Amino acid sequence: MTFNPLEEKGIPLEKQVRSWHDIVKRPFDKHSVDCYSRTRQILMNGIEVEAWNFKHNFARCCPDADLRKIVALSRRIEDMQQTTVNWMTPACQSVLETTLGYEQVAVDLTAWLAQNEPDEYVKATFDMGLLEDFDHLYRYSQWAYMIHGIDPDDILQGMTDVVIGRPTQNHHNCSGVRLLNHYDKESASPQTKVNIYTLVSGEQQTHNFYAEHGMMYANDDLRKTYGEICDVEEEHVTMYESLIDPNETPLEKLLLHEFTEVCTYYNCYKDEKHETLKQIWEEFLAFELGHLQIASDLIKKYEGRDPEEIIGNKVVLPCHFETQKTYVTNILENEVDKRHDGEGGYTTIDELPDDWASYRIQEIVNGEGAPSEKTIELINTTMDTDIVTADDKLRKKEPELLERGLEEIAQAPNTVTVEEYEEMVKVKPSRPYEM
Ligand SMILES: [Fe+2]
Ligand SMILES: [Fe+2]
Ligand SMILES: [Fe+2]
Ligand SMILES: [Fe+2]
Repeated sequence: MTFNPLEEKGIPLEKQVRSWHDIVKRPFDKHSVDCYSRTRQILMNGIEVEAWNFKHNFARCCPDADLRKIVALSRRIEDMQQTTVNWMTPACQSVLETTLGYEQVAVDLTAWLAQNEPDEYVKATFDMGLLEDFDHLYRYSQWAYMIHGIDPDDILQGMTDVVIGRPTQNHHNCSGVRLLNHYDKESASPQTKVNIYTLVSGEQQTHNFYAEHGMMYANDDLRKTYGEICDVEEEHVTMYESLIDPNETPLEKLLLHEFTEVCTYYNCYKDEKHETLKQIWEEFLAFELGHLQIASDLIKKYEGRDPEEIIGNKVVLPCHFETQKTYVTNILENEVDKRHDGEGGYTTIDELPDDWASYRIQEIVNGEGAPSEKTIELINTTMDTDIVTADDKLRKKEPELLERGLEEIAQAPNTVTVEEYEEMVKVKPSRPYEM
């Protein structure tokens, strides 16, 4: 089923204020919730944070008092929605368990978007980020065991593989290298716009979560791992947001934010089995249709434009979650050595010039060792191998993937070597429980 969101009225803004009882609901059960209900809940929190934050920035640059007032009214609702969604997280879900959920969002969402992206350049960018978040999931999975004794599949439920990706120590770039070519707002499809707005929101919230929670652990090596990966998420926000046409007017961006909320809530509602979450997605879809009406009236009134020129006439599906193991394995085997060429394009490690701008950054940040490498050194010391949930064939490729995926220049002094991985894969993969 598809529909034209511009023809739906939704719930009017004045009926969107709720009681505290409605705003703060009973959390889900972390043991029985479907992993993709959790990923939807994590993503929609990011979508709401972005909507709220964008509207504050909008107001700070807007001299028109009427517009500021209209935006203030719906911004309050975005904030209440954010509380409802984020606080479905149960108190007993640890920071590392939630972290595995965040990286599962990043991997499986990015893979879905890449396969549903009409613009080849944007797709290539999604594939680039995919292998980095995939490696984060591998590093954090080691810590989830070392700190809480949990198996990655307690959270991932067998839907997402855990194995080495593009090594995290190589994700640190000169920020200028991460700046890409933006789409053209006149010719880009609404699907491309919504795909990017969705992923920017997810990555930004991932950054925020690590920045706000990494220090809640006492272990220094884990704190440093959060610090390292948090900074990569900052790079991901820089990379994905640079794809957005900066010539979009503030009201056009407002319309695109509301449209993205409509599409993501609709996709969540369509897929959801969890009763409370499904009710939330349904109600908030109706709220967002109300917000979209307001934004489209503003575009007509202030810019004399037809909103359909910007967002089209049908809803798109930017966040369907399902297992993406086959797609991710294919990208992993083909693109582990892919790198930014510094001019908005992509290249491979062997083509990089010796003065590639990111080498200088890597030399500094990894100068006293990379925490993401220390992570593997520690698990290997404890268990004589690493924690991996991929099938045996993929797991046995770890040394080869590392050999192809690791840069020779500016390597961290504590890099776990190909030879060490060759020893690790001889041992049955460590899992906290007999599976
Ligand atoms: Fe919202
Ligand atoms: Fe990540
Ligand atoms: Fe990321
Ligand atoms: Fe909204």
